[in-house]
Amino acid sequence: MNPCPFPSARLRRTRAGAWSRELVAETRLTPSDLIWPLFITDGSGVEEPIATLPGVSRWSVDRIVAQAREARVLGIPCVALFPNTPVGLRTEDASEALNPDNLICRAIRAVKDAVPDLGVLTDVALDPYTADGHDGITDERGYVVNDETSKILVEQALVQASAGADIVAPSDMMDGRVGAIRCALEEAGHPNVQIMAYAAKYASAFYGPFRDAVGSRGLLKGDKKSYQMDPRNADEALREVALDIAEGADHVMVKPGLPYLDIVAKVKARFDVPVFAYQVSGEYAMIEAAAAAGAGDRDALVLETLTAFKRAGCSGVLTYHAPLAARLLG
Ligand code: PBG
Repeated sequence: MNPCPFPSARLRRTRAGAWSRELVAETRLTPSDLIWPLFITDGSGVEEPIATLPGVSRWSVDRIVAQAREARVLGIPCVALFPNTPVGLRTEDASEALNPDNLICRAIRAVKDAVPDLGVLTDVALDPYTADGHDGITDERGYVVNDETSKILVEQALVQASAGADIVAPSDMMDGRVGAIRCALEEAGHPNVQIMAYAAKYASAFYGPFRDAVGSRGLLKGDKKSYQMDPRNADEALREVALDIAEGADHVMVKPGLPYLDIVAKVKARFDVPVFAYQVSGEYAMIEAAAAAGAGDRDALVLETLTAFKRAGCSGVLTYHAPLAARLLG
């Protein structure tokens, strides 16, 4: 029975002061929730701004080290490295992916030498190495062939692990590749290399700026719908996640991020592995465009969106806004 004429529950009570809002906050975003994607380019002393990702550049291997040091200082625990392979080295068989001295391997070694306690994550997929921009090897009809691609991905993961990668992240969406990579890592003496599976990766229109950054956009023939997921499907994402966990993934990722928070929440409710999301390049570009147009405050948009990932159940988020967010939070 309520003795008062007005409802005794006033949910605005705990919102009235900042101290009180702090006390009851259900979600905490910290720099240690962030993974910072960085792009690598050939040469030395090079910084190349990426037009469709304002504020993000490709760095040559010698200059990536300063970015890694900055991550460490800001309390960001892990960086994700992506190479822009010189066009002349992109071939039908993607053989440059297996060169132990390729751009990504040189970058991994440089970062691990300079900042050994910073985690390094690398993408396992062939799109920076194929002549047609696909994540795998295509047959004469342009179809990306699964098992042949998977064999190459296993070799690629081993090359990256040998160079010092701490987390290999298959982003290709071939069937069965997580299990194959896990077995190969065990056999090759890399029992502690983690696998973060891009488990529920959708065929999305939000990847455009990334493809500019790694130089595959202009090369890409057709689309990736025969291997990346259909945005209309959610149950299928749970099947993808279940398989990747069974095959030996340590973490699973949902990608893109904000438009797919329902998937994050479902995965988190069903499984007890760490869940990550990738706030992808098109999402970053939307926030930057909104800020540039005066339609929103960049800092507030960044912190609100990243907090939403945590609220939905993410252990962490890959985001190009990582250094800005870490600075704001620090
Ligand atoms: C490639 C890969 C992509 C992204 C990460 N790894 C693009 C794609 O699948 O076409 C997208 C990341 C982003 O847009 O920020 N395997």
